Amino acid sequence: MKQQELLLSAAEKVKKNQQNLSEDPNRLQFHLMPPVGLLNDPNGLIQFNGTYHVFYQWNPFETAHGSKFWGHYTSEDLVHWQEQPPALTPSEWYEKNGCYSGSAVESEGKLFLFYTGNVKNEQNERETYQCLAVSDDGIHFEKMGPVILLPKGYTAHFRDPKVWKDDGLWYMVLGAQTLNEEGCVVLYSSPDLKNWEYKGPIAGSGMNGLEDFGYMWECPDFFRLGNKDVLLVSPQGLEPKGHMYHNIFQSGYFIGNLKPETPVFSHGDFVELDRGFDFYAPQTFEDQQGRRIMYAWMGLTDEDEPFQPTIEHGWVHGLTLPRELKLKGDKLYQQPLPEMKKLRKAKTFDRQLTLEDENFSDLGLDGKVSELKVTFNGGNAEVVELTIRDHVKIRFNKSEQLFTLERESFQNGKLEKRSCTLSALENMHIFLDTSSVEIFLNGGQETFTARFFTHPENENLQLNIKGQAEMRVERWCLSLPE
Ligand code: FRU
Repeated sequence: MKQQELLLSAAEKVKKNQQNLSEDPNRLQFHLMPPVGLLNDPNGLIQFNGTYHVFYQWNPFETAHGSKFWGHYTSEDLVHWQEQPPALTPSEWYEKNGCYSGSAVESEGKLFLFYTGNVKNEQNERETYQCLAVSDDGIHFEKMGPVILLPKGYTAHFRDPKVWKDDGLWYMVLGAQTLNEEGCVVLYSSPDLKNWEYKGPIAGSGMNGLEDFGYMWECPDFFRLGNKDVLLVSPQGLEPKGHMYHNIFQSGYFIGNLKPETPVFSHGDFVELDRGFDFYAPQTFEDQQGRRIMYAWMGLTDEDEPFQPTIEHGWVHGLTLPRELKLKGDKLYQQPLPEMKKLRKAKTFDRQLTLEDENFSDLGLDGKVSELKVTFNGGNAEVVELTIRDHVKIRFNKSEQLFTLERESFQNGKLEKRSCTLSALENMHIFLDTSSVEIFLNGGQETFTARFFTHPENENLQLNIKGQAEMRVERWCLSLPE
């Protein structure tokens, strides 16, 4: 279809769904979501001429995956967002089955988008093209077509370009699958963003001592933090191992050192970024204050996906809150940005509590859209458990040194859980939206992200303690300020 027709039919879909959205109790209050249809990966994150841009994988026509557009939001403060016309539509032969994920960079005052043109040919075989689109104003994009064709040695699962500049040269990482069906990340370099030279794989299953590490690696990201290089990637096909890798697909990182000329990336172990249910395809950017900020898709293509109740209201999925990344040793810590304090409407609770062996259901913490901070002083109780809206339970068990998140499956109501080991619980910072929870533990050492769907009237928050706990509890009502 022609670009104009695609834009018009998407706009029509958006308009038709407005009423439907306004009737959805699960519509999120302070997260980015599609106005209609399905959202997946965050794309093209950048602060361009002072304005923050978040693009996202968007199928405006169905609440299922299909030929993706790039939806587009802009913001001056990372809190208030304005919907912009879609930046990319799958209108050309080299992207006709989707303008897939990619990234943005600024060069000489222009905004450059790199993305994957996904094509299914007449034999229903996949083709992949790494494409470029350029903009002067950050809103209207001119497509320049493919700049990289599939090199030898890889299947057509070759996508998701992430571009950055280092020492006067541009670099790009791409997620790939070798002909032996092993996932990896490959590196390109370019003097001018148009001519790209293939350098080779820098990490992957079967490389650097990593055995059986997935059949495809998606959405790589690469950046320097302090004096270390970080490769973020979303591998597919990992088997569960202890408390790790229980979602259908993973997202995590390697810390190391890249020598791009050779190219060799010597790195440590893969570390999962988030320990909850709904977190995938994270992407980062550096803003003008020099902060490394990450967004992820607060969802996954798992068996629960078609059962999300928002589908009845014509939309599905959202993005996480923006999180700042910092490196402590070889561990990435994630923190909600200070800008999120603008969401605080009123502080309704701030008390130092000593609690013992009881269920506290009337503390005054109830509410659906809120921020909670719990800081433990002294040692931990044997068990600290918070039940959110009678639906999600988070629990720290001291003797097991385990933190667990439990919720009911959207598909069949069965309890499902995710856990991670934690030697002590020092603090929890929790953001509750109408149908999502994001938990930052110990200043961002671990995070848990999940969607959940419960009765819209239910606002209960209950704290259970086994043993004795001393803590400061703070609570704010959150809402988007005018
Ligand atoms: C990750 C992903 C990417 C791809 C995009 C398509 O969720 O599969 O690899 O570019 O989604 O929407």
